[in-house]
Amino acid sequence: MNSKLEQDVISTLIEEAKKARQFAFAPYSNNLVGSALLTMDGRIYTGCNVENSNFSATICAERTAVVKAVSEGHRKFRAIAIVADRPVPTSPCGQCRQFLAQFGLDIDVIMANIQSNTVDIMSLDVLLPRVFISQSK
Ligand code: THU
Repeated sequence: MNSKLEQDVISTLIEEAKKARQFAFAPYSNNLVGSALLTMDGRIYTGCNVENSNFSATICAERTAVVKAVSEGHRKFRAIAIVADRPVPTSPCGQCRQFLAQFGLDIDVIMANIQSNTVDIMSLDVLLPRVFISQSK
């Protein structure tokens, strides 16, 4: 079980996600999203959404961060923060929940916005009940 995230860790992840959001490439939706993923050994990988004229090729901010971390040898994650310019906390899409779940359900998802007026934190196992993970043969 994850130990409770400290307030300074939460704030740092939100700030890093906001910085990453500035690099978002979202000419189609105009929805700039940033994320910051904390590994179990204390590193932070950030991500932004990168859209494509073939909409299905678009990658969300959360998956960008996961791909960056995994491609540098990190597979154990403690938390991820997500921010966008919305009146409510930014909740990860279903595809990103599934993508994160591949690396464990015990990860805190920090849902925030750039105004930082409301922050929700929920464990991935609550956000994605009865997850599908195939067994390797
Ligand atoms: N998006 C994210 O980056 N993360 C999410 O969890 C939800 C959606 C992006 C994908 C697309 O570029 C845009 O937001 C659609 O609003």
